[in-house]
Amino acid sequence: MSAGEVGTSIGRALEVLGNGGLVAIPTETVYGLAADASNDAAVRRVFSAKGRPADHPLIVHVAAAEQLPEWAATVPPAAALLADACWPGPLTLLVPKAAHVLRVVTGGRDTVGVRVPAHPITTELLTRFGGGLAAPSANRFGKVSPTTAQHVAADLGTAVDYILDGGACPVGVESTIVDCSVAPPQLLRPGAITAEQVSALLAGELAPAAGPSRAAGMMASHYAPRARVVLVESTAAGLAATADEPSAWLLDHSDDLVLYARHLYDDLRAADRRGVQTIVAVLPPPSGLGHAIRDRLMKAAARW
Ligand code: TXA
Ligand code: MG
Repeated sequence: MSAGEVGTSIGRALEVLGNGGLVAIPTETVYGLAADASNDAAVRRVFSAKGRPADHPLIVHVAAAEQLPEWAATVPPAAALLADACWPGPLTLLVPKAAHVLRVVTGGRDTVGVRVPAHPITTELLTRFGGGLAAPSANRFGKVSPTTAQHVAADLGTAVDYILDGGACPVGVESTIVDCSVAPPQLLRPGAITAEQVSALLAGELAPAAGPSRAAGMMASHYAPRARVVLVESTAAGLAATADEPSAWLLDHSDDLVLYARHLYDDLRAADRRGVQTIVAVLPPPSGLGHAIRDRLMKAAARW
């Protein structure tokens, strides 16, 4: 797209948002289904478009870290530190919510999730919009998140008013979520900003996700494709498992975790499109970005 075409698309997206419509937005992680976070009726439409239960809170996306205080009742020091170090980037911070934040956005909780995405088109959109955009991933509830505009169109069809096409998402898995409303802060969802990075920034003051996660909507089969997903711990085990099953796909980029994450959801969707019965996925080692890939693969495998 030329600069002029991008400008026209953003103009159209702003018009749709201003009228209470829904716009699919590209981010560095996955596509979001965005509505004006201050428009109750618009945010409600997000839930019906996705088929998502109404008590699942949405992340508020803003243009810059300086806007965090507009959404938070107080900004805990850990949140200020992480925002400063990691935004724009694939990190969502849960903070005590400001009084004006709509109940439909937080699912009735006393916290709100805020994030500054790192994608040039969406940064320009958010800057020109000025406010916050409430956006979950732009998939139908229970499907894997979309990482291309084509995934969004295939999932949501006419339920989305406009799709801002920003190409394929470079990270490919959803943002890391850190709850900064508790002390010590707690990691609720692993992502491309790794637990090791967050822990180092907080000088070790980070609690791992423990027990039933406090982030709603993170139940077992949230990321499931139709195919059966079988998990193995090594490439050799993967090759052995697929050797005598012609309809099985081997999913393995364990030698390059950045590529593994980037292509994960597109690979899962491709397997479904081709009617693959079984996906044998090689789990990467549990460190760094490997945590996020393991988490999503385990969710994809969980209903079996
Ligand atoms: O990378 C991402 O985070 C993408 C892009 C579009 O920004 N968004 C995304 O949104 O993955 P969603 O709605 O699919 O996942 C957000 C998760 C959900 O599990 C939701 O329940 C949780 O964050 N969450 C959001 N606000 C919360 C809150 N106040 N308390 C607890 N959990 C919250
Ligand atoms: Mg989602």
